[in-house]
Amino acid sequence: MASITLNHLVKKYGDGFPAVNDVSIDIADGEFIILVGPSGCGKSTLLRMIVGLEDITDGDLLIDGQRVNDKAPRDRNLAMVFQNYALYPHLTVYENIAFPLRLAKGKHSDEQVDKLVTEAAATLELTDHLQRKPANLSGGQRQRVAMGRAIVRQADAFLFDEPLSNLDAKLRGQMRSEISQMQRRLGVTSVYVTHDQTEAMTLGDRVAVLKKGELQQIASPRELYEQPVNLFVAGFIGSPSMNFLPATLEGNLLRTAIGDLEIPEDKARKAAGKKVVLVGVRPEFFEDAKLVEDHKKSNGSTFTATLTHTEWLGNEQYGYINFDPAPEMRELLDSLARDMDADELRPQVVVTLDAASRIRGGREAEIWLDTRKLHLFDAESGENLTRDAEAGAELTREAAEERAEEIATAQQADGRRDGNGSADGAPGRREDTTVKAGAGSSGGATAAGGRHTAG
Ligand SMILES: Nc1ncnc2c1ncn2[C@@H]1O[C@H](COP(=O)(O)OP(=O)(O)OP(=O)(O)O)[C@@H](O)[C@H]1O
Ligand SMILES: [Mg+2]
Repeated sequence: MASITLNHLVKKYGDGFPAVNDVSIDIADGEFIILVGPSGCGKSTLLRMIVGLEDITDGDLLIDGQRVNDKAPRDRNLAMVFQNYALYPHLTVYENIAFPLRLAKGKHSDEQVDKLVTEAAATLELTDHLQRKPANLSGGQRQRVAMGRAIVRQADAFLFDEPLSNLDAKLRGQMRSEISQMQRRLGVTSVYVTHDQTEAMTLGDRVAVLKKGELQQIASPRELYEQPVNLFVAGFIGSPSMNFLPATLEGNLLRTAIGDLEIPEDKARKAAGKKVVLVGVRPEFFEDAKLVEDHKKSNGSTFTATLTHTEWLGNEQYGYINFDPAPEMRELLDSLARDMDADELRPQVVVTLDAASRIRGGREAEIWLDTRKLHLFDAESGENLTRDAEAGAELTREAAEERAEEIATAQQADGRRDGNGSADGAPGRREDTTVKAGAGSSGGATAAGGRHTAG
């Protein structure tokens, strides 16, 4: 396993177009990094640069501190798992998993191959399918075979390019949690490209948001959600998306098309001097005012609005408020939409209400908004004026601590399951502690992914 450092990486294709533009990311050993962004923002290009399938135009790529820009893919010892699995149809599951080992001719004895394949298959619950052909497997099983191939190679890192996008929703959920648990158990550095909000938020220790080849923000999912650096990140992360309302600020009174909102002094101060701002409000910051306890009401602002309609979802409901922006505000929303790669930003606010709310479309209703949580964005630069960088950094620090604990717990559990909790007295490197029963007999590494430490 390894750390990966991207140092001002640039990729220009033949036509000079910068598909990746000055991206720097430090990926820690064992970390799970997600790359997200709209189609064409350079996610796959970045992944392919790391793995060596794409030349690096400028900048440095380091693996464990060693510059690898000029190393061939096979010498980087990274394993890539693709969307379409790339399995060999004529080979059994066993031989598909064993393939990378057979490729390294003479490097592994038959016994070693058998041991590695059997262990990987057990990890992935493929033991019963080893003699079958890929065509006879489900999508999820094929995906696991592809991952088995990555595991037996004892690669220093796994790189995934939308590995689950071909699967149906249910299986995707299942595979998502399998990948998550496996990553923790193996403690293997992983970089994962996805379009899927849920995958991004649940799998990643940190999520990197890209826009047109440029890194916007990299942080824990919670920091991205609560303290986005700009409009783009705020709008990209979260579902339903954050609402953006053009507003003018007078003292600590925000005048918006859905009503006047009194906001906390400290937020108003950060936006002082701006004539026009964009108010960013997540749907869940709203509530039916009737259902908010009195002592909480003072934390927010109550306004009257007429919802066009509501959608009851069982656990909650969505309500929709249309607003009619002034012409110059409409222009602002249009340019914002272009910036965010959306077709249009509808002059509409989505609110989530408690399932018990009796508010219905067509009638005036009192809506409460938790103004402590809203953000104010610069209408021109898109910068988040109210971001609390310290609070954000704290969220990411907490996430890093949780990761360390989770990896330790997962690996202990793994050790217990194999009846071998500690690793043959090997000193504290994590890769050693992942080595399972029988360690040392096959080059010091097993399906649990020890690096070629002992040979
Ligand atoms: N071989 C190539 N030659 C020229 N331009 C390319 C090539 N491959 C990709 N690009 C361009 O580089 C940019 C980034 O492409 P990339 O495939 O990395 O995007 P992506 O973020 O993975 O998108 P998606 O989510 O659609 O997979 C795009 O503008 C694309 O047109
Ligand atoms: Mg792609």
